[in-house]
Amino acid sequence: MSIFSGKHILLGVTGSIAGYKAADLASKLAQAGAQVDVLITGAGEKFVTPLTFQSVTGRRAFTDQDLWGNEAHILHVSFGKIADLLVIAPCTANTIAKLANGLADNLLTVTALAAECPLVIAPAMDGGMFYHSTTQENIAKLKKSGAIIIGPADGHLASGLTGKGRMIEPAEIFGHLRIALGKNGKLAGKKILVTAGGTQESIDPVRVITNHSSGRQGYAIAQAALDSGAQVCLITAPTALTPPVGARVVKVNSVQEMLNALMDESADALIMAAAAADFRPAQTAKDKLKKRDGIPQIRLEAAPDILETITSSQVGKKRFQIVVGFAAESQNLFENASEKLRSKNLDLIVANDISAKDAGFAVETNRVTLLFANGNQETLPLMSKFEVAEKIIEHTSKFLE
Ligand code: CTP
Repeated sequence: MSIFSGKHILLGVTGSIAGYKAADLASKLAQAGAQVDVLITGAGEKFVTPLTFQSVTGRRAFTDQDLWGNEAHILHVSFGKIADLLVIAPCTANTIAKLANGLADNLLTVTALAAECPLVIAPAMDGGMFYHSTTQENIAKLKKSGAIIIGPADGHLASGLTGKGRMIEPAEIFGHLRIALGKNGKLAGKKILVTAGGTQESIDPVRVITNHSSGRQGYAIAQAALDSGAQVCLITAPTALTPPVGARVVKVNSVQEMLNALMDESADALIMAAAAADFRPAQTAKDKLKKRDGIPQIRLEAAPDILETITSSQVGKKRFQIVVGFAAESQNLFENASEKLRSKNLDLIVANDISAKDAGFAVETNRVTLLFANGNQETLPLMSKFEVAEKIIEHTSKFLE
């Protein structure tokens, strides 16, 4: 279930050209299952219309005219009471100044003053306005009172200049909202280490030995852990994916680099979703192997087994309360996975049959069985990788209770 399901989000839109991007944010939130009520200021209406937002949220959007309508005396209070989160994106320097000083002269600022929910602000303005000492003081004041300020980003500004002031992109705002909503989740205060992707073992400066892992399952686990309020470190081999907002990302290439990175970390749980190589070239050629020299003979050697290295020593195992592994199998799923659970000294292994077309590498779905060290088993139906991730996180948090 999406963290946004059934959540009531207020989206404030103020007078900035980035208002058009707010429509994308509203759409993403609505598609994720949130009830999105949009409050547009007078200046905001100069850039985008209520109809724009109504079309993507399926709910009416509100303007300052609603402040003076029949429901005027209750509208802002009721919004403030029922909302799970108020996000203002884009938020101008003017609205930031009003919020910092408790001014309430339009529907959005009245609502913000009455609201008891977390407030997230995505500033959008020209660089000079952003760096103005008054704006900086106002932002500092808002931060002190608990507001979450995200951005602004560097880049092209409406003024034609380049600099800091652009609203951060809707996908990134979306990620920050997940964190704000998940903050007090069941993994709050816990640190989860997740590995993801297929490692790359160099043959020469150009060529590598790798595998079909897309990294999707590991990235989904990192996101599900963040949604539950965890602090997440994602150690990732190269993938085409964007890491979840809020994860601390450590990029590695080879098994050895992944092992080294892991040795530098400690966490409450280690979830080893990476497809780490078992074999690597015994030697990496310093220069590119040339065709004219004939077909090379590449001798392989065993790569270190990361999980075994960690769990075979008391010191290594102690760094994590729970260690979760994966078993990618194309035959004898249960026997092989049970053997790995035992030999790698794991608390839980996620066994997946990679021979199925709808499971395993490089697809959106997975079909897994969870095998626990105490002998329990849970076979899950075909699920999205995110749903599988949520299940893994649910069990991880039970271990950590
Ligand atoms: N793993 C690891 N280090 C490696 C290879 C794998 O820590 N060098 C981890 C994987 O991240 C996974 C678990 O071990 O969590 C099982 O990986 P898998 O590829 O299924 O099994 P292997 O142990 O590599 O054995 P085989 O390839 O023979 O099935």
